[in-house]
Amino acid sequence: MRNLLVTGGAGFIGANFVQHMLQTYPDYRIVVFDKLTYAGNLNNLKPVADHPRYAFVQGDICDAAAVRSAIKQYDIDTIVNFAAETHVDRSILDPDAFVRTNVYGPYVLCEAAKDLRLERLHHISTDEVYGPIPSGRFREEDRFNPTSPYAAAKAGGELLVLSYFRTYNLPVTVTRGVNTYGPYQYPEKAIPLFVTNAIDDQPLPLYGDGSQVRDRLHALDHARAVDVVLHRGTLGEAYNVAADMEHTNIDVARRILRLLGKPETLIQPVADRPAHDVRYALDAGKLRALGWQPQIDFEQGLADTVRWYVENEWWWRPLKSGEYLEYYRRQYLERERTLAAEVLKS
Ligand code: NAD
Ligand code: TYD
Repeated sequence: MRNLLVTGGAGFIGANFVQHMLQTYPDYRIVVFDKLTYAGNLNNLKPVADHPRYAFVQGDICDAAAVRSAIKQYDIDTIVNFAAETHVDRSILDPDAFVRTNVYGPYVLCEAAKDLRLERLHHISTDEVYGPIPSGRFREEDRFNPTSPYAAAKAGGELLVLSYFRTYNLPVTVTRGVNTYGPYQYPEKAIPLFVTNAIDDQPLPLYGDGSQVRDRLHALDHARAVDVVLHRGTLGEAYNVAADMEHTNIDVARRILRLLGKPETLIQPVADRPAHDVRYALDAGKLRALGWQPQIDFEQGLADTVRWYVENEWWWRPLKSGEYLEYYRRQYLERERTLAAEVLKS
């Protein structure tokens, strides 16, 4: 029996990971520990809600007493940390929570793992710690160059985790994944935002000229990568997780519109994101050497994801209300105005 505490497990990738692990390992117990911020959602865990080997604890990873109490109560031996503030645009508007959850949070988890002598702390990091790369691919030993408060805070949190291996011999591993898509992704990120807007015949706000490139990894392939590193990774090491399925943002927007039979006139250029990274790309050779490879091709994965949003309005429609609408206005009205001012000036 292995007892996993999956922090941030009520979020997008965490929930896909929980479902994958319960299906794959008949003797693992999974305890989700999640603060349930605007991005956390128990509906993401609905498919496993009644599973006999699953439990849920509401808590903040920055709260050392709550973390330790959950570890003791459930006899946890392994933490897998997905918990984070994750949206780059929100980190630009309001970085405070990012510094707390993405830097102080991993510190609290490291201290708990050290004091309670856990077998493993696996930390989920991101390709964004490396910053942009116009051509070529980053390898694990390349230097960090984060450009947004989100990415900088993720870099800080990850470096703390790795420092606990070197300083205290804490058994840690890290994965740095590329842009991930799939079911249960909060509709602020580009793909679910574009899909749900398109379903409602609303504009798809495209930053700048849409030429930025992202590698697109399906959430289940991301979950399988974490599984592989958890079981076969070397302690103290970080592993890139890449799909090698690069697309520009405008190409992704057009594909979504084609899949839904909607006109390209729905694409609405808006002012660019400050410090918008032109391209992210990673070399995942180190992870592939452990036997992992992506199984879901982007064309199929995107079609399945679009269908999932079409068939699961019950999941996303309630999310596009209240705080979301306030954020949306703040975020996009300003961008439309900025673009209009730029056009007038030129
Ligand atoms: P998400 O925003 O969908 O979910 C984050 C989850 O963390 C939510 O359930 C939220 O309630 C929880 N959370 C936030 N603050 C917390 C706190 N202080 N204590 C406990 N729980 C808290 O995020 P996601 O897209 O699933 O990302 C998961 C992880 O993967 C993050 O660490 C992110 O940096 C990383 N990542 C994401 C992507 C991507 O494209 N989505 C790519 C690479 C890496
Ligand atoms: P996003 O999904 O926010 O992921 P990340 O910033 O972590 O890569 O954005 C993906 C790409 O899509 C990124 O280049 C920014 C762009 N984008 C838009 O053009 N319009 C949008 O409304 C959003 C949210 C993102």
